[in-house]
Amino acid sequence: MSGFDFSKRDSFGSRLGVVAAAAGSAVGLGNIWRFPYVLGENGGGAFLIIYLVIMFAIGIPVMMSELVIGRRSQRNPVGAFRVLAPGKPWYLVGMMGIISAFMILAFYTAVAGWTLEYIYQTLTGGFSGKSSVELTAMFDSFRSESLRPALWFSVFMIATSAIVLGGVRKGIEKSTKIMMPLLFILLLVMCIKSLTLPGAGKGMEFLFKPDFSKITGTTVLMALGQVFFSLSIGMGTIITYGSYIQKDNNLAGTSVQVSLIDTAVAVLAGIAIFPAVFAFGISPSSGEALTFIVLPGIFQQMPGGMIFAFMFFLLLALAALTSTISVLEVIVAYFSEQLRLTRRKAIILATLSMFVLGITASLSLGLTSRIKLFGLNTFDLFNTTTANILLPLGGLLIVIFLGWFFPGRDVKDELSNGGSLKARYYSLYRFIIRFVAPIAITIVFLNGIGLLKI
Ligand code: PFF
Repeated sequence: MSGFDFSKRDSFGSRLGVVAAAAGSAVGLGNIWRFPYVLGENGGGAFLIIYLVIMFAIGIPVMMSELVIGRRSQRNPVGAFRVLAPGKPWYLVGMMGIISAFMILAFYTAVAGWTLEYIYQTLTGGFSGKSSVELTAMFDSFRSESLRPALWFSVFMIATSAIVLGGVRKGIEKSTKIMMPLLFILLLVMCIKSLTLPGAGKGMEFLFKPDFSKITGTTVLMALGQVFFSLSIGMGTIITYGSYIQKDNNLAGTSVQVSLIDTAVAVLAGIAIFPAVFAFGISPSSGEALTFIVLPGIFQQMPGGMIFAFMFFLLLALAALTSTISVLEVIVAYFSEQLRLTRRKAIILATLSMFVLGITASLSLGLTSRIKLFGLNTFDLFNTTTANILLPLGGLLIVIFLGWFFPGRDVKDELSNGGSLKARYYSLYRFIIRFVAPIAITIVFLNGIGLLKI
């Protein structure tokens, strides 16, 4: 019988490779595009504080839990629950993750396609001399009046599939190790430029001075969703990557490192963007367009700006690529291990289905704008439902599973690598996954959707 040979599963080669790949999944458009605009729409500094609290109190423990599930089971998200809880319906949590993966890949690759359009524009001088009003108009007409978003989506999707076809170690690990540090450096350069613009102080105030009167239930839910989205947790991406991690890796250490890198990049993106937002007189609540209007504006103010712009959008595209490959890997691991397809067939099937969803999402302000559900176009629907509903719900079920339905000693065994690490934080971790995280996620969720009023 032809089937998946589990003894031949691929794996990451080194400790650094693991962090680079997981951070590669975490760091992406979520940090540089989504974080600033969601923060801008949700009150600035107060959002940042709530975001940081949730990141450390809930995000890191959820990430550790996913790594435990993945490495313990050596499977994709559906297979993982089937191995760890045979005969029980927990595998449905994995199925929910696969659905999230499809939805995220569709809209996320569409945004990744925008970065390609922006690389093209820097090369052809499309931004030159444009004011922020003109840059806004340019962004809007690109999204609503042409088929180009679908074209760029397709290019990006094919690049993603090609890397995943290369396999875990060769394809994913190698590419991330080089690209991530480069992006970090370039982001620092942009922060410096943004901070020296006239009027930059107001942006720093907006980002760092909390005004708690602006906080509502929705704000906290948005922060929770953003943490989950940014860390790639709640849908099995980290379960899948965890399944490729070797037995001597310190899972808690990896989670902390990845989360710190991810947070640092998000905060740096905030520092690069908000001073410029105020210097250019743009509204911080400009939504999805924010990063794509502000960044070209900053580049125009820099000597040699178009070279920087080219490098930046290229690296942003690459950061997005290290994230899209992690999402596609979830689907491919599921198809090949559960449905017993060859890796190649799994990739082709996943890619073809992604074309349908992704092209619909990428043209959601143009050709496909009439397709709506709950009043949202496909892009907004995928973006909002995954981050604010599916990922937190997935995270909730993951911690409940490990905290209440899986033997504690096995969890400790996995976190301490069979007793060779001390894992002194274990009691705190266990308390969080049993009580703090489930209660907090439930309250934030119910409050955010208006079913509970506090
Ligand atoms: N964490 C990625 C980012 O912030 O750009 C987005 C993402 C990747 C979400 C992978 C979910 C995922 F499984």
